[in-house]
Amino acid sequence: MELHLRSRGSGENGTLLFLHGFPFDGSVWDPQMAALPDGWQGLAPDLRGFGRSPLGAAELPSGRRLGAGVALADEAVLTMDALADDAAQLLEDHAAGPAVVCGLSMGGYVAFALRRRRPALVRGLILMDTQPGPDGDEARENRRRTAASARESGPAPVAMAMLPSLLSRGTRERSPEVAETVRRMMEATAPRTLIAALAGMAARADSTGDLPAIDVPTLIIVGAHDTITPPDQARAMADGIPGARLEVVADAAHLPGLEAPAVVNGLIADFLATL
Ligand code: MLT
Repeated sequence: MELHLRSRGSGENGTLLFLHGFPFDGSVWDPQMAALPDGWQGLAPDLRGFGRSPLGAAELPSGRRLGAGVALADEAVLTMDALADDAAQLLEDHAAGPAVVCGLSMGGYVAFALRRRRPALVRGLILMDTQPGPDGDEARENRRRTAASARESGPAPVAMAMLPSLLSRGTRERSPEVAETVRRMMEATAPRTLIAALAGMAARADSTGDLPAIDVPTLIIVGAHDTITPPDQARAMADGIPGARLEVVADAAHLPGLEAPAVVNGLIADFLATL
């Protein structure tokens, strides 16, 4: 699968692979790509189906096999494993060695899958506003409802429903252009990608049991006002990963990289300097 890729930097010090969340694209990392520390290569793909990357539905399982009640029988399911395999291929094609993998929310689910499937490709983790656990019944029911709404009415109502919980009130007041960028990105996502990814997230594996075995340096970042993957969850995840460092970003919610870019860029630079 040929993914649309933003690539920057020389990479003598290593590669930083950025994995975006749902339903965004690689441009969500523009502020981080613009501030890469010297010597680092940044790779920020549009994951399969998002932004300018094709979904390639023919290669994916169908809702008949793995829908978790979210995708219909003839719809594709975008598993976290498929996204992880794409990321592995991308690293093999574009990176000189193992990478630091920075995953935001759904991108974090993909980072867990990548480490499980191809540990030799991962030399460090930055887990941003994400969680290791699987969906509970209520989350699956919400995904079913969201998929039905995308099927019937397209991405706009999905974007409108998600927007209030993505950004802190401070961000919305201070930086309305950030809300606009995020809304536009979400509305550009094809309904079949929305449905496929919702089904894939609903069917994702429980990564909680993997945490104690994570033996690469790990930085966990979470917005203080994140209600989707709240700070308490991030704290529990940090407690589960040996040596993990937790940073809570004030006045940010689910997208601290866009809401407080200078703070997040500083945290990433400090972390990379320790490697
Ligand atoms: C994301 O930002 O990727 C989503 O909130 C993840 C999810 O829906 O579980």
